[in-house]
Amino acid sequence: METVLKQLRSLDSKNATAQEISDFYNEATEDYSFWSKDFNMHFGYCTMGKTLPFLRNSMLNEMNRQVLKRLALEKGTQLTADLGCGMGGTMRHFMKTHKKLSIIGVTLSEFQVVQGNIFLNNTKGIIINENYTNTSIPTSSIDGAVAMESFCHSGHSISCLKEAHRILKKGKKLVITDAFLKKPPSELCTGSKYSYDGLCKGWSLDGIGVIDEVKKNLNNLGFKNITIEDISLRVAPSVLHVPFAIPLFLIKQFFKGKKIKPQSWNNLKASFFALLAGLHRSSFGYYIITAQK
Ligand SMILES: C[S@@+](CC[C@H](N)C(=O)[O-])C[C@H]1O[C@@H](n2cnc3c(N)ncnc32)[C@H](O)[C@@H]1O
Repeated sequence: METVLKQLRSLDSKNATAQEISDFYNEATEDYSFWSKDFNMHFGYCTMGKTLPFLRNSMLNEMNRQVLKRLALEKGTQLTADLGCGMGGTMRHFMKTHKKLSIIGVTLSEFQVVQGNIFLNNTKGIIINENYTNTSIPTSSIDGAVAMESFCHSGHSISCLKEAHRILKKGKKLVITDAFLKKPPSELCTGSKYSYDGLCKGWSLDGIGVIDEVKKNLNNLGFKNITIEDISLRVAPSVLHVPFAIPLFLIKQFFKGKKIKPQSWNNLKASFFALLAGLHRSSFGYYIITAQK
C-alpha cells in the first residue's frame, strides 16, 4: 500500500493515476499477445523493401531495430534502461541483437513484472516494479535509455524526462517513440479533441505532450543534439492493423466463452481513437526523439 501511495504521489497526474495505469496493464496486457507474438506493445516501423505492411510483427520489431540504432551503443558491455517496458519485448529484441547488453525494464504493472521476467529468464535483463519518474537506478549509470509509447502515460512530463536525464551517463542517449500533439489541446479542432480525449481515457494516458514543448523541456533539462523525426507515415501501416486485430481478438475471446474485461474494451476503443487521431495530421504526429545527455 505504501508503495502504491508513493507512486501516486510521484506521478504528478492529471487524468491517469499510477494505480489506474497499473490496473489497466495488469488486466489488458494479455490482449497484446494477439497484437504481437513477441509481446511488442507499440506500433511498427515500415521500411519499403524490408518490412511488408501486412506482416505486423516484423514492423513492430523493425521499430525496436530503429530505436536500438539511434541509441548508438558501444560494442562492449553496456547497461541500458527501458522506461515503461511492458512485457520486455523490446528488451529481448535488444539483447538478441547486442550480445553484451544488460537491460533494466521499469513498469508499474505487477503482472508485467511477473510474466515479463519469466520471458527474460536466462538473459541479462530484469523488469522492476517502479515508477519511471522516480527509479532506484543510480545517477549517471546508464549507457542508453528508451521510452517507447510509455511516457505518454505521464503526459511526456518534465518529471519523466528529468529522471531519464539523471540516470544516463554523460554523452549517452535517450530515445523516445510516441505520438505527440502538434499544437496545444486548447487549439485542437472538434474532431481532434474528440479523438484525443477518447484515446487518453481508453489508454489511461495523462495527456500527450506537444512536440515543440517537449523539445524545449529536453533542452532546458540539459539534453543536447535533440533530433525530432516525424515517422507518422512509416507507422501508419501498423496503425491500419488496429480495426482488424483487436476486434478479431475480442470475437475469439467471446467464442472461447471468456469474459471480455472492461480494460479490453477500453483498449479497443482507444485503438480506434488512435486511428481517428491519425487522420488529423495537422494535430497529431508520431515521432522518434533522440536526445543526448
Ligand atoms: C504501451 S506500453 C509500452 C510497453 C513497451 N515500451 C513496448 O513498446 O512494448 C506502456 C508501458 O508503460 C508503463 N508505464 C506507464 N506509466 C509508467 C510509470 N509512471 N512508471 C513506469 N512504467 C510506466 C506501463 O506499465 C507499460 O508497461
